[in-house]
Amino acid sequence: MCKKTYYITTPIYYPSANLHIGNTYTTVAADAMARFKRLKGYDVMFLTGTDEHGQKIQRIAEEKGVTPKAYVDEIVAGIKDLWKLMNISYDKFIRTTDDYHIKTVQDIFKKLYAQGDIYKSSYEGWYCTPCESFWTETQLVDSKCPDCGRPVEKAKEEAYFFKMSKYAPRLIEHIENHPEFIQPESRRNEMLNNFLKPGLQDLCVSRTSFNWGIPVTFDESHVIYVWIDALSNYITALGYGSDDTELYKKYWPADVHLIGKDILRFHTIYWPIMLMALDLPLPKQVFGHGWLLVDGGKMSKSKGNVVDPVILVNHFGVDAVRYYLLREIPFGSDGLFTNELFIKKINSDLANDLGNLLSRSVTMVEKYFDGVIPAPTAKEAIDDELIKLALETPLKVEAAMDKLKIPEALDAIWDLVGRANKYIDETTPWILAKDDSKKERLGTVLYNLIESLRFTSVLVSAFLPVTSEKINEQINSELTSWDTLSAFDGTSAGKKVKRGETLFPRIDLEAKIKEFEALSQRTKEEKAPMQPIKEEITIDDFDKIDLRVVKVISCEPVKGAKKLLKLKVDLGGEERQVVSGIAQYYKPEELVGKNVVLVANLKPVKLRGELSQGMILAAATDDDSVLYAVNPGDLPSGSQVR
Ligand code: MSP
Repeated sequence: MCKKTYYITTPIYYPSANLHIGNTYTTVAADAMARFKRLKGYDVMFLTGTDEHGQKIQRIAEEKGVTPKAYVDEIVAGIKDLWKLMNISYDKFIRTTDDYHIKTVQDIFKKLYAQGDIYKSSYEGWYCTPCESFWTETQLVDSKCPDCGRPVEKAKEEAYFFKMSKYAPRLIEHIENHPEFIQPESRRNEMLNNFLKPGLQDLCVSRTSFNWGIPVTFDESHVIYVWIDALSNYITALGYGSDDTELYKKYWPADVHLIGKDILRFHTIYWPIMLMALDLPLPKQVFGHGWLLVDGGKMSKSKGNVVDPVILVNHFGVDAVRYYLLREIPFGSDGLFTNELFIKKINSDLANDLGNLLSRSVTMVEKYFDGVIPAPTAKEAIDDELIKLALETPLKVEAAMDKLKIPEALDAIWDLVGRANKYIDETTPWILAKDDSKKERLGTVLYNLIESLRFTSVLVSAFLPVTSEKINEQINSELTSWDTLSAFDGTSAGKKVKRGETLFPRIDLEAKIKEFEALSQRTKEEKAPMQPIKEEITIDDFDKIDLRVVKVISCEPVKGAKKLLKLKVDLGGEERQVVSGIAQYYKPEELVGKNVVLVANLKPVKLRGELSQGMILAAATDDDSVLYAVNPGDLPSGSQVR
């Protein structure tokens, strides 16, 4: 009989030298799903890879003085090492620089052009020649290039466009008729209401301003837009469009594209439309998981809050990290990472609950039966609850996994672990051991515990593969298949258990946190060197700058300029208007009534036709991801700042 197939994909990763724990989440979750389906007997194809083209890569490579390919080769090797460390059992790793992928993407582009879904037109905007960049009207600052501040010219660039709107009604219908297509539910409504229903614009699918991309075969000055290139990986990896389409026929359509919520739009709008245009079936499901947050926000290098999976694995072992990721990101929403939460979870769930269950059970078999597993010859009613729960747990785990509710699957397994620990307290084997006439009963209790551990070991194997193997070694079990969970009698009496190392040693929370803080301080210093101090000035130079406290009276966006806010400020009786490029950090209403510091004697200029009489002081992180307007507290307006 033919096995049922299961095709699961992760996004292909941008080659970035340091993938953080958040990036790792998608792959670890996909790995748990893939392992689980294999355990259930499916023929699984688990795909991951790297998304290697684009202007950013080209720029970094140029800065480093190497070719883009040499640059990505090195990084991809590092990503593969990380997946090895995380125990990711992918079946195929695709690189968008692989020849077969490039060829098929070119063929796809050509086909869509030939059938009229892609057409050539032009893209109009403002061009900055030194930067070789196109800008839209709203991106300009003071009618100049927002990057270098030099003048720009109106220019037209040829580009290819994809007729997205043609397929929108079909896609809306598909999404409405297939509630399982976009998961979780809330994300489906967001895609329908915010993007599809208001109307789709045609998508610009080629670029001429850089060349690190897949060339359009019939117009070589153009490279194919990186998302058209990247999304195609899900079928090119299976040989679609090549001489050997066996894998494609076997696995497509994908059962699930597992992705982070930030890239849902590309996967649930552009990708299905591409497939419709190619007349191919759509994936069965796109699942957009939540974010792993640090201190309530996203991880970013400049904030210095990037959590490095390699450091965590080196300190706590791969399964502790996998466990935290899989248990702590709730179905479809965001989860939080802090060192404290992480260590507490290891101590409670892994060291205490699971680790103790194993060590207590194996130790008792060694102590009371010379390590030989006894036969269950003296059953009592109290055993039934444990046995019933053990037999129900695989069904619960399966039901949760079918809906990608990974934390709930782990909840169910930990209910069993908890129940088995409670069973030890209820049956008090150490008291039974004092009475020779209770020897058979003691043997039955220990058998039930070892069998519960065998169940646990099979069940956790998809999530914590190393731990599962360690349990099997200690309880001497070779019965590791899913089928062996249909009866509570898989443990062989007469076999010898072997106490091994502690599964998860208890961690001293305070000491470890201190160690980590010192470590992260060091890495912060290494990774984010302070901007060098500018050339020395005299007090007379400084004295020329007149800094004043001003109160913001009103604030509104500057029409047509995304980054600018127009503020009216009170300079101790005198009203000034200031235009400031802080719109991406503050909502206008957040600033009204606040005190800020103004460079009051800066020569007035016009920005976007608006007079700006001074400049507001602000502190920004290196990559401009966070900004604070300097707040001098409650001083009266007009006070001098020195
Ligand atoms: N190259 C694109 C995907 C193209 S797929 C055809 C890309 N790559 S990425 O490297 O930026 O992201 C890879 C995955 O990491 C995405 O699923 C993204 O959502 C996920 N995450 C990045 N930061 C994350 C967290 N902090 N938490 C959870 N997942 C996060 O996007």
